[in-house]
Amino acid sequence: FESTVPEELGDPALRGVDLPEPAAVTIVVPTFNESANVRELLHQITESVPARLPCEVMFVDDSTDDTPEVIRQAAQDCPFPVTVLHRDTPDGGLGGAVVEGIRAATCDWIVVMDGDLQHPPSLVPELVAAGERTPAGLVVASRYTKGGSRAGLAGGYRVAVSRGATWLTKSLFPRRLRGISDPMSGFFAIRRSVVTADALKPLGYKILLEMAVRGRPRQVTEVPFVFQNRFAGESKSTAQEGMRFLRHLVGLRTASPMARMVVFGLIGATGFLPNLAALWALTSAGLHYLPAEIIANQFGVAWNFWLIEHLCFRDRRQHRHWWDRVGRFALLANADLVLRIPLIALLVGQFGMTVLTATALALVTTFVLRFVGTEALVYLP
Ligand code: GDD
Ligand code: MN
Repeated sequence: FESTVPEELGDPALRGVDLPEPAAVTIVVPTFNESANVRELLHQITESVPARLPCEVMFVDDSTDDTPEVIRQAAQDCPFPVTVLHRDTPDGGLGGAVVEGIRAATCDWIVVMDGDLQHPPSLVPELVAAGERTPAGLVVASRYTKGGSRAGLAGGYRVAVSRGATWLTKSLFPRRLRGISDPMSGFFAIRRSVVTADALKPLGYKILLEMAVRGRPRQVTEVPFVFQNRFAGESKSTAQEGMRFLRHLVGLRTASPMARMVVFGLIGATGFLPNLAALWALTSAGLHYLPAEIIANQFGVAWNFWLIEHLCFRDRRQHRHWWDRVGRFALLANADLVLRIPLIALLVGQFGMTVLTATALALVTTFVLRFVGTEALVYLP
């Protein structure tokens, strides 16, 4: 399939875009209290989407205001079907809503966009056309590619946060995000056939990031866009949402066993600090180094447990009660200590190492065993 008019794609009058016959689009719009925006949104979609591109609009709504009623009212003037999925249990926030909309979508293409008109509806046909023109299964509307801008991102603070978060995210996932200049964008088109909804674990705002990293679409292309000002109302993003984003990053980064083992090892390494500090304090107080080892180890165990819970296995804690996990974790760590003590005694007694060096060496050599044990015995059902 060849496009006849690639240069025209920047033109807001998108009627010239060459779309092959079967293309149709489900526009998924997450909404949380957007009653002052949805009428204008539907109006602009009606204006922007040419008759040759059949579309349906799917709102996934977690509102506590009258947004669903306003949508149903406004839908009466629309030439396309409009659905409102209202969620009583809003799992996963914005991202969870989007995944629900994607599951319910019926068209070959899905465009995800915000309900506050910061994402111009006039770009919808272009996103689909860009996907049809190329083998791409994912088309990202980007603020950070040539021709795009974040004009509507109010305030130097928000711009700085957005830039910093984009940089951090791109450095954490250099391979998966290659070719995506704006992984934080909430505006994109995706082929329904490349979506693996069951593989996704949406957590908050960054649903494109989730899809790009966990969904692994093979081909990606970008279309520049200008992030507009909000039509009405205020952003629903909060500081809490910022924390949720960090948790999301950690969850994505520790998704593979190899990456988890590296993080596990790094955390284990930091466990030296409380362990050695306690050992120093106890031996300075006159305790023999062997009982001191046992006590000091509990400080390292507590420290490691807390970090590993939150950074490695955050989404795998549901299989056991927390006290069960602490118990098993501590048991493994101390079993490890039991194995380690003869080794330390050997290193100290036979090789003349200092207690601290011997302990450090033994800690490092046993960590793989501990990782495998922790995976299998603490965080699996
Ligand atoms: N269903 C549902 N549930 N919708 C939600 C929720 C929720 O918990 N939270 C927000 N939304 C809806 C809003 O009603 C709006 O339609 C859309 O999601 C975006 O929310 P905003 O609060 O307007 O987000 P923003 O403008 O701060 O952030 C947008 O731009 C960022 C780029 O700067 C989003 O698209 C972000 O994903 C994007 O990174
Ligand atoms: Mn917004």
